[in-house]
Amino acid sequence: MTTYRVGYFVGSLSSTSVNRELARALIAVAPDGLEFTEIPIGNLPLYSPDYDANYPAEATALKDAIHRSQAVLFVTPEYNRSLPGALKNAIDWASRPWGQNAFDHIPAAVIGASIGQIGTALAQQSLRAVLSFCNARQMTTPEAYIHYTPEVFPGDGVVADESTKAFLSTFMAEFRDHITRVLTVLPRQSDAARTR
Ligand code: FNR
Repeated sequence: MTTYRVGYFVGSLSSTSVNRELARALIAVAPDGLEFTEIPIGNLPLYSPDYDANYPAEATALKDAIHRSQAVLFVTPEYNRSLPGALKNAIDWASRPWGQNAFDHIPAAVIGASIGQIGTALAQQSLRAVLSFCNARQMTTPEAYIHYTPEVFPGDGVVADESTKAFLSTFMAEFRDHITRVLTVLPRQSDAARTR
């Protein structure tokens, strides 16, 4: 079985992020054949085109991490009915300089958790619009809007509710199938052949 390298983004900078907890749970229930590495976004400066001629080390590391990944997973909170600024900033860095968009054709999935009832639905719609422009190949179904409670997610990647666990497990199995489909028709270039 092929193992795919999945880089994942946690859209929250909070030290107690429920979305990082969701990411742990997703990794715990993922099928064989997926290997996960977090792509950090917290130490990036705010993007400016002034950097295009000379990217700072943090932004180069971000782009290199995406290039090493065969797929990306976004696990994000909703901030004011949209995606958090820190995540948008990271995407802006990765999409530039013009013509060197790191997300081009990359298989991608979006999920998020909120303490609110709509479970990041609007953040995910905003994020999907951004990723669409970045030409990422998004999994469209299943969608996953997770209402976080500490009873369901008690910590360390544990999912205490069986139906939630089964749903998350299906989501990750579908993501693996999606990665296979996308990479079958759009293989990733070797790292050596890429420009940043
Ligand atoms: C929120 N929160 C929130 N929740 C939601 O369901 N819809 C929203 O629009 C917002 N807006 C919002 C803005 C800002 C600035 C903050 C700090 C919070 C609540 C949010 O879902 C909650 O804080 C989650 O715990 C955030 O996820 P992390 O950071 O714990 O992963």
